[in-house]
Amino acid sequence: MEQPMYYGDYLQLGRILDAQRPVSFEKGNEPAHDEMLFIVIHQAYELWFKQILFELDYVMGVFGQEKINDNSEDLNLVRHRLNRIIQIIQLLNQQVNILDTMTPLDFLEFRNLLTPSSGFQSKQFRLLEARLGLQLEKRHHQAYYKRTNEGGFTQTDYESITATEAQKSLLQLVNDWLERMPFFTTSYWKDYQSVAPCGIPQHVFWNDYRHIYQAGLTERERNKLADFDYVFFEEIPAGYSPEQLYLLRSNFSPAALRSALFIMLYRDFPMFQTSYQILDALIEIDHLMSNWRHKHLVMVRRMIGMRVGTGNTSGAGYLEGALNKHYVYRDLSGLSTYLIERKKLPKLPDELIRNLGFMH
Ligand code: HEM
Repeated sequence: MEQPMYYGDYLQLGRILDAQRPVSFEKGNEPAHDEMLFIVIHQAYELWFKQILFELDYVMGVFGQEKINDNSEDLNLVRHRLNRIIQIIQLLNQQVNILDTMTPLDFLEFRNLLTPSSGFQSKQFRLLEARLGLQLEKRHHQAYYKRTNEGGFTQTDYESITATEAQKSLLQLVNDWLERMPFFTTSYWKDYQSVAPCGIPQHVFWNDYRHIYQAGLTERERNKLADFDYVFFEEIPAGYSPEQLYLLRSNFSPAALRSALFIMLYRDFPMFQTSYQILDALIEIDHLMSNWRHKHLVMVRRMIGMRVGTGNTSGAGYLEGALNKHYVYRDLSGLSTYLIERKKLPKLPDELIRNLGFMH
C-alpha cells in the first residue's frame, strides 16, 4: 500500500536540516556559537535566490515570446510575479538585521576558517544579476569576476555565469517589448490636435511634448533639452564631451525609452496600467537590490572594518564601488527627469485609444 505523504519527506527536511555543519564544531577547532547562524542565514538567502530565479524564468519566458498578448493572463502574471520578487527581496533586506546580532568579535572566532570562500562566489546571486541585465563590462572591478583561482568561481560556475550573461537579459527583452509598442503609428494620430509650431522632424506628439517640456525648465535646467534630444532621438548636442555623452547613454534604445516615457505619462489610462506597473516593478527591484548592497556594506564595515574580504577583494571598498555602479534599471527611474505635469499632457487622439491593445 502506498505510504501517505509525510511532511518531512515532502520537504526533504532530512537533507536540508542535515546541511548545517559549522566548521568550528569539527574536531580540533574551538566551537564558535554564531557560526550556526552564519550558515543558516546564507542558506536561507540561497533558497530565496532560487525562488527569485524561478519567478524570473517565468517572466523572461513571457517576454521572450515574439508577441505578447496584452489581453491574456501573461502580462498580469508577470506583474504579479515581479511583485513577489519584490516582497522576497524586502525580506532579504530585513534578514541583515538578524545577522547584525552577531558581533565582530563573535565573527572573528570562525572567520579564518572560511577563507577564501565568500558570498562573492554566490552563483545564484551572479545569475540573478546577469538575468536582470548587469553585464560584465558594466561591473566594478571586472577582473574580480574573471577569477577562477582562490576567491573566484569554480570553472563550472564561471562557465554557467558567462553563458547566462551571453543570453538575452530581462532588460533586453523588455527593451524589445517596448520597441514593439505601436503608440506612434501614423494612422492613429490623424485627428490629433497639435499645440506647438513644427520644430523637430520627429513625430508630432514628440514635437509638442518637447515644447511643453522646454517651457517647464528653469534657467539652470536649460541643458536638459539637449539631453532630451540625445536620450530620445540620438541628436548629439553641440559642445558635449564624450564623458557627458557617456553619462547620458542608456541601457535601453531611444525607441524603447520613448515608449517607456509614454507609458509613464499616460499611466492613468487603464490600457497602460499593467505595462506601467511592470516598469515600476523593475525600478523597485533595482532599488531594493541597491538597498541590500547598502545594508550588506554597512554590516561588512562594522564586522571587518577595512580588512580585505575572505573572497580576496578589497572588501568594503569593492562593495562600495559595486553599490554605486551595479544599477540595472537606472535609465527607467531616470525618466522622471523628462516628465511634465499631468495637466499639461497633450490629449491623446481617440483613434489611438480605440486601437491600442492587444498584440505587441
Ligand atoms: C559576517 C557577515 C558578512 C561579511 C563580513 C561579508 C563580507 C563580504 C565581503 C568582504 C564581500 C566582498 C567580497 C570578498 O572579498 O569577500 C562580500 C561579498 C558578498 N557577500 Fe557578504 N558578507 C557577510 C554576509 C553575507 C550574507 C549573509 C550574504 C547573503 C547571501 C552575503 C552575500 C554576499 C554577496 C552576494 C557578495 C557579492 C556582492 C557583490 O559583488 O556586489 N554576505 N561579503
